Amino acid sequence: MKHYKFVSNSESDTKNFAKKLASKLNTGDIIVLTGELGSGKTKFTEGFLSYFGLENEISSPTFTIVNEYIKDNTNIYHFDVYRLEDSSEFYEIGGEEYFENGICLIEWGELIEDALPKNYIHIIFKKDNQNDNIRILNIDVPDCYYSDKSLFY
Ligand SMILES: Nc1ncnc2c1ncn2[C@@H]1O[C@H](COP(=O)(O)OP(=O)(O)O)[C@@H](O)[C@H]1O
Ligand SMILES: [Mg+2]
Repeated sequence: MKHYKFVSNSESDTKNFAKKLASKLNTGDIIVLTGELGSGKTKFTEGFLSYFGLENEISSPTFTIVNEYIKDNTNIYHFDVYRLEDSSEFYEIGGEEYFENGICLIEWGELIEDALPKNYIHIIFKKDNQNDNIRILNIDVPDCYYSDKSLFY
């Protein structure tokens, strides 16, 4: 496991960071986004999708649990599992079937941790007490994600 820290000074910082990361990921990769309401999880996802030219199409999955996007041969699945009671509800919607069929971004994924594969990128967003535009991103990356590519350069 490797640990990274990124200090974002603006919404666009967060989006650019996500866009760069998107260029390095492939089908089967999973990102869990953890952090309180308003900490930037959905903005990160917008930036991620913009790498695939999907920037105008994002809508919050709060009421649908998952939104599906497709660009060329890549599926991108954006989850917000906040409203799920527990991971059994995730199984009921066929959640695990998404993992191998695309890139998954899962807001509040820690709530269904026992339904997740063991290897995923975990990004924990923290707001700053002093400055409304600052977010601290703490990132855990399992070994299998950086063996053959450098994720943040
Ligand atoms: N550095 C930053 N990164 C991301 N969003 C920021 C930042 N600074 C301020 N914001 C604002 O915080 C809010 C984040 O909202 P959102 O991404 O929907 O949060 P979440 O999905 O975690 O609830 C947006 O209104 C955005 O403009
Ligand atoms: Mg959100």
